[in-house]
Amino acid sequence: MADRRPRRPRGAHQADPPGTATRKAALRLIDAVLRRGDPLDLAAHAATQGLPPPDRAFAVAIVSEALRWMSDIDMLIDGATAQPLPDDVKSRAVLRIALAQLLVLKSPPHAVVSTALPLVDGGPRRLVHAILSRAQQEEWQLPESASLPPATAERWAALWGDAFVAAAETAWSAPPPVDLSFAAAPDAAGWEGAQSLAPHHLRLPRGHAIETLPGFREGGWWVQDLAATLPARLLGAGEGRSVLDLCAAPGGKTMQLAAASWSVLAVDSSAKRLARLEENLDRTGLHAAVVQGDIRKWQPGEAADAVLLDAPCSATGIFRRHPDVLHRIEPRQIAEMAELQAELLGRAALWVKPGGVLVYATCSLEPAEGEERIAAFLADHPDWTIDPARADELPAGIVPTEQGFIRTLPGMLAEAGGLDGFFIARLRAP
Ligand SMILES: C[S@@+](CC[C@H](N)C(=O)[O-])C[C@H]1O[C@@H](n2cnc3c(N)ncnc32)[C@H](O)[C@@H]1O
Repeated sequence: MADRRPRRPRGAHQADPPGTATRKAALRLIDAVLRRGDPLDLAAHAATQGLPPPDRAFAVAIVSEALRWMSDIDMLIDGATAQPLPDDVKSRAVLRIALAQLLVLKSPPHAVVSTALPLVDGGPRRLVHAILSRAQQEEWQLPESASLPPATAERWAALWGDAFVAAAETAWSAPPPVDLSFAAAPDAAGWEGAQSLAPHHLRLPRGHAIETLPGFREGGWWVQDLAATLPARLLGAGEGRSVLDLCAAPGGKTMQLAAASWSVLAVDSSAKRLARLEENLDRTGLHAAVVQGDIRKWQPGEAADAVLLDAPCSATGIFRRHPDVLHRIEPRQIAEMAELQAELLGRAALWVKPGGVLVYATCSLEPAEGEERIAAFLADHPDWTIDPARADELPAGIVPTEQGFIRTLPGMLAEAGGLDGFFIARLRAP
């Protein structure tokens, strides 16, 4: 009998299931990170354009979890295909984001499958459908902790040892808690579930929408990982003395210094990031002079009592909150950053008053951007000395290294939610 159902006119598409636009955005985003090497937070805006804010946030969450669990998700995919899919084919990207929804975000399976298939229209729909069906039938599970990308695991094992790699894997298996820095000592009693690990600090369990927390508009606090607060803590109270805050934007450390009564001159080369610094100062009502300048060429009118150089770096230390970093950063970029840091450190040292201090910091877990930079600096500047960090300047549980540096590592304060990986040195001018 002839099929009398009305036919779809030629060229017309069946409407995509609800939520497909969000997954299309996620696909564009993971492609921008893995193929173009763009940072996730910078690529997110363009990739999710046109979506309502909750859908934008969901697309970013899907990609964040796909990147965090990518090595383990890939193992599952490879175990289910006769030949491994090439690394950069669309079907692998679609499976990565679909399996992140299924296995990490626990999205309803029918929604995951129905929104994945339109992404491979005209392509390997059957393959994607078969793998996602198998994932459900066989009740695929991810391991307890997310494996690091193999190249990072190898590099860090050689630099720091296997126990470090295990701690790093545990640390990046879940998004970190939220740390707030306060201009004035906070009253922890008013914050449910909060824990204070240092003066002017509160830690909240993850999952809070920042803008809805009490006092956001009044500006008494800002979001800043506990490890990121340590460089400014090493400068203590300013009592009106001058500090040059180099590479200052978006201004977490600028606000700490201003709140600690330093007279701050904040410098950064990025106009866009400085606009955020200005917004942060406006919101918190804190004061700093702000200058746009590339410190390879710019120089201040006069030397300062203290200089803080929070140098640009590979950012491998903030891999918990930026799960794209370890997929993008390669040894070549680390070497380039180290070269830039050497130049910036040499410049910064010119602007410290005799007997003053220079704090150098990077949010990197690469010795080339930390210990090795300071060793090279001291070899070139034999009159300078290390001014060792003291345990009483630091949160309980963070102990300075034998040389007097601060080296925060995955695994430190793990029970309390861990902290980002930073290297910090305090140096004294002759
Ligand atoms: C690690 S971030 C700074 C974070 C900031 N200190 C904070 O606490 O919010 C590094 C900054 O260095 C800036 N930067 C990179 N190269 C620079 C240069 N040559 N001169 C001045 N700033 C530079 C970047 O724009 C970026 O804002």
